[in-house]
Amino acid sequence: MTEKDRFIIEGGHPLGGHLRVQGAKNSVLPIMAAAVMCRGESRIDNVPDLSDVRTAISILRHLGAKVRREGASLYVDASSLTAHDIPDGLMRRMRSSVFFLGAILAACGRCEMSYPGGCELGPRPIDLHIDALRELGISISEEGGRLTARVEHPRAGDVHLAFPSVGATENAMLAACAIPGTTRIRNAAREPEIRNLQEFLNAAGACILGAGSETIEIRGGRPLHPAHIRIMPDRIVAATWLCAAAAAGGDLFLDEAEEETVATVCRSLRRAGVRIDRERGGLRVRSTGRLRGGEVIRTQPYPGFPTDAQAILMATLAKSEGVSIFVENIFDSRFRHVSELVRMGANIRTEGRTAVVCGVPRLCGCEVCACDLRAGAALCVACLAAEGESTLFHVSHIDRGYENVIQLLNQAGASIRRVAGEEEGGKSGM
Ligand code: UD1
Repeated sequence: MTEKDRFIIEGGHPLGGHLRVQGAKNSVLPIMAAAVMCRGESRIDNVPDLSDVRTAISILRHLGAKVRREGASLYVDASSLTAHDIPDGLMRRMRSSVFFLGAILAACGRCEMSYPGGCELGPRPIDLHIDALRELGISISEEGGRLTARVEHPRAGDVHLAFPSVGATENAMLAACAIPGTTRIRNAAREPEIRNLQEFLNAAGACILGAGSETIEIRGGRPLHPAHIRIMPDRIVAATWLCAAAAAGGDLFLDEAEEETVATVCRSLRRAGVRIDRERGGLRVRSTGRLRGGEVIRTQPYPGFPTDAQAILMATLAKSEGVSIFVENIFDSRFRHVSELVRMGANIRTEGRTAVVCGVPRLCGCEVCACDLRAGAALCVACLAAEGESTLFHVSHIDRGYENVIQLLNQAGASIRRVAGEEEGGKSGM
């Protein structure tokens, strides 16, 4: 696999049979960070094989943890950490490395890392993380792109987040576990992955209540022992498979998909004419591939419509009857998939945070480029629903979040192949 790999996708095949929903990327990464706080070997099950997970393994090993993978289980032994820093190269590979800040502080009392910086979704500052940690008495200095943090005068108490940031909530939870007394995180993010993190930490001996609500209470200062957890199913991958079946048509069963965590996506797809039924062990989705538009989608923190599914649903409703409107409220620069969908024949206009999608009867296969993880997933959905062959470039973004994507989709009836690097005179530099 290289950065320049691409997918050749022949569109127009309906999807059928079963697709399993992998463990959640956004759950496993903070839990891997949390494992550094446990003295002994923790076991994490249902771990997807993703490039971001491999980066987190490199960080754990750099810190001195012993990590081994057996099938879908990951064993992390952080009994003898030897470092409390994350090198710049690893920080740059994955913005989520920032979760390690709270965990390393809890484990070592100090941490050094470079600033994660911006990324393909526009600037992603970490001011909320820093403010929350400072409220816990952690001193943080920023110099030359490096952060140096130290637990100097720890104090449990109230931490108020100006915005319910997922990462800041998780970092504050992790750091507060090591601070004696009761910390309450107010205006906390309510994403289900935060419940999964609470479950792991409590299994390790922490005492945390309220994850999934606006206030999370952490009674800190307890030593953590190794724990065992199963990673929850990935709700964004579930949303992607739902949208793929909706757009390409077919009758597909999604093993392990949980309707509660993708309720807003299911609601929009049902209104578009897709049939989704909860059946034992997952969700069944049936679609003729002919969809109705007319939706107004506003991305919001959970339980609102997830920003990570915005591009994917937009690709789905690009081929529909009627006009749909998308308002992106979480990230700047999250409409970079639009120009690629337009190349495929979609009729979409954007202004600021709003995209107006006038549904078209068909999309046509062509050359398109994935500019970030979810844009890549969205374009993959569009290519599956399009007439003719498409080439999707920069699929390394998709590898960050989707395990075995080609094998799984082909088993469900799609026709995709991966072409490595420079073969077949692919266009480079896209
Ligand atoms: C997490 C998810 C990501 C998802 C996002 C929003 C993981 C690994 N990633 O990212 O897939 O798209 O939630 O659901 O779980 N912000 C600040 N200052 C901060 C922190 C955030 O201004 O200190 C802003 C961000 O720029 C963004 C918004 O808050 O505009 C939401 O960010 P946040 O909830 O923190 O997302 P992440 O934790 O980075």
